[in-house]
Amino acid sequence: MHDFRYVDGHLHCEGLPVERLARKYGTPLYVYSQKTLEDHYGRLDAALAPLDSVICYAVKANSNLAVLRTFAELGSGFDIVSAGELERVVAAGGNPARCVFAGVGKTEAEIALALRRGIYAFNVESEAELVRIDRVAARLRKQAPVAVRVNPNIDAQTHAKITTGTYENKFGIAFENVLPLYQRAARLKHLRLRGIQMHIGSQLTEVKPFESAVRRVAPLAAALAEKYGIEFFSIGGGIGIVYESALASGQPDWWATPAAKGLLTPATYASKLVPLLRPLGLKILVEPGRFLVGNAGILVTRIEYVKQTGEKRFLIVDAAMNDLVRPAFYDAYHEILPLRCRCGVQALFDVVGPICESGDFFCRDRLLPAVDEGEYLALFSAGAYGAVMGSNYNSRPFPPEILVSERRADCVRRRQPLERIWEGERAASWQARPASGRRRPR
Ligand code: LLP
Repeated sequence: MHDFRYVDGHLHCEGLPVERLARKYGTPLYVYSQKTLEDHYGRLDAALAPLDSVICYAVKANSNLAVLRTFAELGSGFDIVSAGELERVVAAGGNPARCVFAGVGKTEAEIALALRRGIYAFNVESEAELVRIDRVAARLRKQAPVAVRVNPNIDAQTHAKITTGTYENKFGIAFENVLPLYQRAARLKHLRLRGIQMHIGSQLTEVKPFESAVRRVAPLAAALAEKYGIEFFSIGGGIGIVYESALASGQPDWWATPAAKGLLTPATYASKLVPLLRPLGLKILVEPGRFLVGNAGILVTRIEYVKQTGEKRFLIVDAAMNDLVRPAFYDAYHEILPLRCRCGVQALFDVVGPICESGDFFCRDRLLPAVDEGEYLALFSAGAYGAVMGSNYNSRPFPPEILVSERRADCVRRRQPLERIWEGERAASWQARPASGRRRPR
């Protein structure tokens, strides 16, 4: 499942003690295991082998160039949602011809860029977007490859903020309107109808909603293949990961344990979906983000203060909601453990950051080993939607990111220097210049 484990009482990422990285690069610090990225990709790829399948890694989950490079080298395609993500993929050596472009708000400039780069397909979310893509393609004298994103109206039974496949959501085209839209699209001269796509939500921990959605959309895909010769069906991303007992899931044989059997593993996913998809004879795209990178990363933080109030005990750490927003935003659970294994006494702690908001917390009333100021903690399963959702709130710089492969570590994103935070800003032209604005403290 992942390559973070205690060796002689010290948490290691692959062959390296994480504390060594924390001391060298400072904290907060993201650490990623390349082996875990490769292992997860390999497991999914193998499970889908009976299909003509393409994994299109959802770049939004973690867009660090080194992570993208890892997947590009494995032959992955990419699911992108912006011009920025497309250019990142290219910068990392990925192939634009293996990119699908999703999102409800593609601008003309983004469409033009994607056409020039020669992406594999636009996943289209509205009739107005189809018309716009046709117009931009006409201007560039190109054929735009498109797929319509169908909203199958299936509840993914996940967190409300990451459910996308019901009619309550802004995503996709209502199931019953899809065929008429293809009819319309077929008349637009600069479009090429290449596929159909769906994505019902993220962090799904059961296969059932996927199965229901595929059952619903497969006949439509077959009809579109027959009528318009589409070549692919993308079933989206959404495979969930283990957040609770994340450390335990790092055992080498974890996939074979009963705990894994109850979860959404690539094997269970494939065993239910392959039989439904194979008869279509179409290319099947999957767009996993979290599954590939989530458990492959941790956020390392140092305890700055231990504070006891009348009611509670707080560990005030040097990471904050600007570094990892998931607990604040989704009430998400991330396992938290010290880098040095501590047995014995445990106590209830809130782990909080230094930002001036009560929402700046990583856990509340969590039973943790009795740790002290100066010690380091690891927040597990932070590889997906961690660094990418970071901000400079409170003028805090983006933390460094380290990629580990066996006993090697490389800094694949340096800590943002402070003055880079306000790079691009300046006082307005009518404001007086401060006399000492650039002076450094002595
Ligand atoms: N395809 C599409 C069209 C998507 O919208 C998404 C995620 C994915 C694929 C990848 O889903 P995944 O395999 O990673 O579940 N920030 C939230 C998650 C937002 C997901 C948005 N869409 C979180 O931290 O939980």
